[in-house]
Amino acid sequence: MNIVKRCIYGFSIVSLACMNVQCKGNKKVEETTVETKTTDSVSIAKSEYGTTSKGEKVDQYTLTNQKGMEVKIITFGGIISSLKVPNKAGKSEEVVIGFNSLEQYMKDNPYFGALIGRYGNRIAKGKFTLDGKEYSLAINNAPNALHGGPEGFHRVIWTAEEAKSGDSAALKLKYVSKDMEEGYPGNLTVFVTYTLNNDNSLDILYEATTDKKTVVNLTNHSYFNLSSDFSKPVLDHEITIDADKLVPVAATLIPTGQLTDVTNTPFDFRKPKKIGAEIEAKDEQLKNGLGYDHCWVLNNQDKGERLAASAYDAGSGRLLEVFTDQPGIQFYSGNFLDGTLPMRNGGTYARRTGFCLETQHYPDSPNQKDFPTTVLNPGENYKTTTKFKFSVK
Ligand code: GLA
Repeated sequence: MNIVKRCIYGFSIVSLACMNVQCKGNKKVEETTVETKTTDSVSIAKSEYGTTSKGEKVDQYTLTNQKGMEVKIITFGGIISSLKVPNKAGKSEEVVIGFNSLEQYMKDNPYFGALIGRYGNRIAKGKFTLDGKEYSLAINNAPNALHGGPEGFHRVIWTAEEAKSGDSAALKLKYVSKDMEEGYPGNLTVFVTYTLNNDNSLDILYEATTDKKTVVNLTNHSYFNLSSDFSKPVLDHEITIDADKLVPVAATLIPTGQLTDVTNTPFDFRKPKKIGAEIEAKDEQLKNGLGYDHCWVLNNQDKGERLAASAYDAGSGRLLEVFTDQPGIQFYSGNFLDGTLPMRNGGTYARRTGFCLETQHYPDSPNQKDFPTTVLNPGENYKTTTKFKFSVK
């Protein structure tokens, strides 16, 4: 593999100060050398990952900090292909579902680690109207449209630009989605910047502009398993979601239009609760989602980026905190993983061996007049942030 190390962290002497005490008469000479060292604490390296069946070159970028965190991102789908963080014993291990080849990522898979757009989540019957004109999308999750269409943003090649400044390393991805691509109006220029910081957090900044009125709802579809044991379901993970309300859905996972109180339901995660605690309860919403596959109405929507959700695995001690400025979060308990897709080192990903915390607007917002708008007009800047912060306790 042709790895181009763009930056190797290590010590660099930035100043060398010599203090001389001049000799006067028989007084002794003192000479002190002061070395000021700084560290290039976060590094970014590029390597070739493969070539798509259409002949497009795909690169992989590895972002590494000095606290044991390493994130790999590929330019196909802007996918987080690997994310390693330390457990309570300090051992850095894999915590996201993924494959170990481009060939496998190119086959059909449920959006492992991918960037999702132009509209994340479902749009009822694949139809929406803007300024009196109806738009039709591919029905890729019958009878609805899901996650931006068959190719969406998760199967396209993003261009990448590296940036680094001491305590963080960033990868700025760009994709231009053409007018009417996947059925959406307007040329949409999208930037997604992944930034690894030295406090074991990964920031994702989503930005977009359009030249025609359109709808936008971007997110990342990583499946976490903080235990790093992908042969086991995530049911023991404790989840917290700062939300008093849920976006309930009908059988096809399209919102009913109401927002319901989570009190006394399996959807109350205001205090930490194991995923498995009530997932099998007799509940209409759990039946519709085959488990958790819902959008929560996050509290404090006027506060900008705030702590929205967390996940904790007691065995490894790993804690993931999710901060976002978005109004909603889709918590999906991996209900459709079915043991057909290969794990990196043998075995297959079985049901509920990973969970997603997808920060976003509510599903089907383009058809729901009472939901916060997802319309983007020319001249406006779509800009939203999400932070995945890891620690141990
Ligand atoms: C999303 C959806 C789920 C499912 C997964 C992919 O999170 O909400 O219903 O489609 O993607 O399998």
